[in-house]
Formats: sequence, structure tokens, C-alpha cells
Amino acid sequence: MEVVVHETGEELAGYAADRIRAEATSGVLRVLGVATGSSPSPVYTALAAGNASPLAGLEVFALDEYVGLPPGDPRSYHAVIDREITKPLGLDPARVHVPDGAAADLVAAARAYEVAIAEAGGVDLQILGIGTDGHIGFNEPSSSLRSRTRVKTLTASTRADNARFFDRPEQVPTHCLTQGLGTILDARRVLLVAQGRHKATAVAASIEGPLTAMCPGSVLQLHPDATIVLDREAASELRLLDYYRYVAEHKHAVTPTR
Ligand code: GLP
Repeated sequence: MEVVVHETGEELAGYAADRIRAEATSGVLRVLGVATGSSPSPVYTALAAGNASPLAGLEVFALDEYVGLPPGDPRSYHAVIDREITKPLGLDPARVHVPDGAAADLVAAARAYEVAIAEAGGVDLQILGIGTDGHIGFNEPSSSLRSRTRVKTLTASTRADNARFFDRPEQVPTHCLTQGLGTILDARRVLLVAQGRHKATAVAASIEGPLTAMCPGSVLQLHPDATIVLDREAASELRLLDYYRYVAEHKHAVTPTR
């Protein structure tokens, strides 16, 4: 994993936005995976503040959606993605895909989502946030490390974390449709962003802890091209922080010996 640490959330968002724009401009990014959440959100704001034209033709796939919110509910991830990504970046709504959490047949909806990703040619770059319990997408602790898109039951801690978006805690849905950890691992490149002290334990466990279903973010240790972009606070529990900084500073200084 490549670990990149920035002083502030603003620098972090600018770095991630520049990377997305550069990939889209060069043509290696055609299918973008997007995440909702407080860390990815400023990345989309930074993207929208610059030249969004390289992004116009992107196919976009969201990670997850609540089950049971009616279509058009402003608290649905579909609505969040519309507000934060589709409209500000001027994307074609027909090319922006979100799992259908309102489907009568959720198993069929999950299967159809996997098929849609495959038919688009797979995700080139997957943006990820991380939950305080280490979840990526909505893959809660104990998720199968090779899982595919499916219905998951949200943990009490995730429902409590997300209660701020609802009038009352009991309104937070109990279930979701989420890409699986195996689905996420299939993305060609992964870019996880995390900001804030409250993410430091999950970040450290994902990067340096054992590979375990108890910390779903740790599955990224199996990914051959994962970049983790952090602010100083989210990086504060990393044991090898000095090493990651050294690697970043000397990235282009390596001279092959033969
Ligand atoms: C949410 C989303 C995740 C997101 C995470 C962290 O519930 N399903 O995709 O990465 O939890 O969100 P936040 O950064 O707002 O804490």
C-alpha cells in the first residue's frame, strides 16, 4: 500500500482530486467507483472547483445504498451522489449507477449490480472512505473477505454514526445493499481517503493490523495498487508513519542498480 499523509483535509482532497482528474485526462480512467461520507465528500468539491470536462464521459458506480428508503428520499445515497457528484461534475445521470435499495427483489438487484459493473468493463479507480469500525462500503466487521454485492445488516455503531443524517436515530435503516469486499478488490486501483482523529484506529488497523474480517479495511492489504490518503490526525496511530513519509519523499530517488 502507498500511504500519503497531508497536513490538512483540504490538501488531502486536492491531492485526490488531482489524481482522479489526471487519470481521466490520460484515458486510464473510464469507470470510477465512488463512496459517500465525510472524507470523500471534499474530494468531489475539489473536483467540481476545477476543470470538470475530463470527467464528462465517466461511467460511475456507487458502493452502497440503504435498503427501504423510497426512491428520491433525500437521505438515500442515490440522492447524496446526485447532489455531491452527478450535478456538480455535470455527469450524465444515465451513467451514474447506485445499487437499488428499493427493489422488491434485493437478491436480484445485487446480482444485476455485479453484472452492470462487469459489462462496463470493471472499475478502474475505486474511491473509498472508512467507517470508525473499519468498514469499507457497508461491509461491516465479520464480512467475508471475498464477498460480492449483497444485503448487509448495519451494526449499531454504524447506525449511531449515521444518525446525524436523520431526524431520529431509529429512522436509520437497519439494512443496506453494498458491493462486497471481493467486488472492491476487483477494482484496478483503489484510493482510500480518511480525515480526522476518529478514523485513526480504523486506519492503523487497516494498514498495519492483521488481515481480518474484523477490520474489513485490512482486505486492502491484498490489493496490488491501493493508495491510502490521510490527514495528520487520521494518520496519528500509524506505527510506521516516519517510514511512509520517507518513502513518499524519496519516491522518485530510487536508482536501479542493474
Ligand atoms: C458510510 C459509508 C461508507 C463511508 C463510511 C464513513 O456509512 N457507507 O462508504 O466510507 O460510512 O463515512 P464518514 O466518513 O461520513 O464517517
